[in-house]
Amino acid sequence: MNTNTQNPIGKFAIWFKEAKNSGMIDHTVMMLATATKEGKPSLRTLLLKRFDDNGFVFFTNYGGRKSHELSENPHAAICMHWDKIEKQVRIEGRVEKISDKESDEYFLTRPRESRLGAWVSKQSQSLESREKFIKELADKRAEFEGKEITRPPQWGGWRVIPERIEFWENGQFRIHQREVFTKENGAWVSEYLYP
Ligand SMILES: Cc1cc2nc3c(=O)[nH]c(=O)nc-3n(C[C@H](O)[C@H](O)[C@H](O)COP(=O)(O)O)c2cc1C
Repeated sequence: MNTNTQNPIGKFAIWFKEAKNSGMIDHTVMMLATATKEGKPSLRTLLLKRFDDNGFVFFTNYGGRKSHELSENPHAAICMHWDKIEKQVRIEGRVEKISDKESDEYFLTRPRESRLGAWVSKQSQSLESREKFIKELADKRAEFEGKEITRPPQWGGWRVIPERIEFWENGQFRIHQREVFTKENGAWVSEYLYP
């Protein structure tokens, strides 16, 4: 085992910046896997909105399918693939809801129309017709006319607190490089993996 204790969050920050500068359409796109308490997985695309030593944060509806699964089984996996720089990062860990204050602050940075959508959408629930949703949006728009649109209680952030982070770099002839960091007794240790 290579006992390199370099911080993987720092390495992630370098790769994230490299992806941002690569000219790809959106380097914040990530895949998030959750599972039911029976272990049945589900996967969807989300946007990574912030990260630091405490973890990786995304925002969503607390009433939707992913949030339901995270509530009954608080573990998740994230995968980000940046094709322009031929790199992939995989993150696994426990999840927690971020504080209401943090969600409130982020919510206010969103465009007004997105904030309205968050009030109206009953994410992942059955919708009778698109027209019904458009009508509900119009009603909510009228209700908030001239007022600040604050965060609805069913919308907010989740943080994935990493326990394992793997960095994958494309190599010629499939001789890829994989470095994995795992948290052991509160400290990060790293090792290389066969591709
Ligand atoms: C590029 C892209 C970015 C997305 N970003 C988000 C996001 O940040 N938050 C979110 O709740 N849904 C986002 N979605 C929609 C999700 O993929 C998904 O449809 C939705 O969250 C419902 O998932 P669930 O039913 O598993 O809860 C995004 C979809 C795409 C294609």
